[in-house]
Amino acid sequence: MTAIERLIRDEIARDGFMTLQRYVALVTGHPVHGYYASAEPFGRAGDFVTAPEISQVFGELIGLALGQAWADQGSPARALLAELGPGRGTLMRDALRALRIVPGAPAALAVHLVEASARLRAIQAETLADAAPVWHTAIGDVPDAPLFLIANEFLDALPAHVLVRRGADWHERTVTVDGTGAFVPGETPCPSGMAARLPASWGAATDGAIGEWAPLRAEAVATIAGRIVRHGGCALLIDYGAAASGPAGDTLQAVRAHRPWPILAEPGTADLTSQVDFAPLLDAARAAGAAAWGPLPQGTFLLALGAEARFDALAHSKDADAVVALVRARRRLLHPAAMGEAFKVMAITPRTAPPPPGFAHPPA
Ligand SMILES: C[S@@+](CC[C@H](N)C(=O)[O-])C[C@H]1O[C@@H](n2cnc3c(N)ncnc32)[C@H](O)[C@@H]1O
Repeated sequence: MTAIERLIRDEIARDGFMTLQRYVALVTGHPVHGYYASAEPFGRAGDFVTAPEISQVFGELIGLALGQAWADQGSPARALLAELGPGRGTLMRDALRALRIVPGAPAALAVHLVEASARLRAIQAETLADAAPVWHTAIGDVPDAPLFLIANEFLDALPAHVLVRRGADWHERTVTVDGTGAFVPGETPCPSGMAARLPASWGAATDGAIGEWAPLRAEAVATIAGRIVRHGGCALLIDYGAAASGPAGDTLQAVRAHRPWPILAEPGTADLTSQVDFAPLLDAARAAGAAAWGPLPQGTFLLALGAEARFDALAHSKDADAVVALVRARRRLLHPAAMGEAFKVMAITPRTAPPPPGFAHPPA
């Protein structure tokens, strides 16, 4: 039994049940016993592959986009280059390499990382040793300064409440233990006051409708937006999901060794994520006084940043095998049938700032 399973069993024995939101929070976010703290998630030998691990082009273009936003906002001399959930540090490493060509940026941008996993912090320390990063446990701990921030596949790991409409009420999905000791799903009426906080568009939901409500994601976005309103900056938030306008159904999934895995089986040995609903995140950024942009499909965004030209330059003078690998990577990142459409990018800037790179049109 994993250490996180022991914690979950103890809590269920004490309380009778645990909400699915709490279960996901413990499994993904526990700093010592959680999935990211104890498993090796990334790459072919792990459970899944993320965009920066597919190609250096991803991190390079993000770095240049944030560098351009920094220059567009007057090249502030003391600013932060921050990342939420940096994984192995690959994206930040590639971004920093690309930023070397932006005059003044390397000296002005201090690297700050928000990471829950002690194990991943150690890996990031190795990958990013030259940048002398500073780590934080939560976005609210990042110091006040102009904030140029990237979060790729971070918000989907923050747990959502999984709610089911029962008549005029909402119930919350839970985890309990059956007579054989197995984890099984359950349901409990939502605590009083929760229904009033749900998005207005959920009011018309019919009996049995399922919605994933993620106030932790909206709170993270509101914190980022507040910093950007006060000090300037630009945030790029990239995740899989849709701009939904109602309870979008049950998207919670577990992935182990690149395949779907039962959500309640052997907790801590599989990645647990759910789709990001961007509509409430755009609302949260705007409510904080910021301009919110997108969400754009990832392929559209990367093409606007010059992905084709960068891939072509990398392919130049490479041997045939390396060119084939680049063609594959380009397709995975850009093509609508791969990550190009399923992943979305939203941006946050001050209302007075020019459009962030890749976002040509004024925000809605
Ligand atoms: C799916 S990985 C993405 C890694 C990286 N951004 C990439 O694209 O390869 C999620 C990252 O977020 C971190 N993380 C997950 N939940 C977190 C939390 N509640 N607080 C801080 N970091 C968290 C994980 O440890 C991991 O670094």
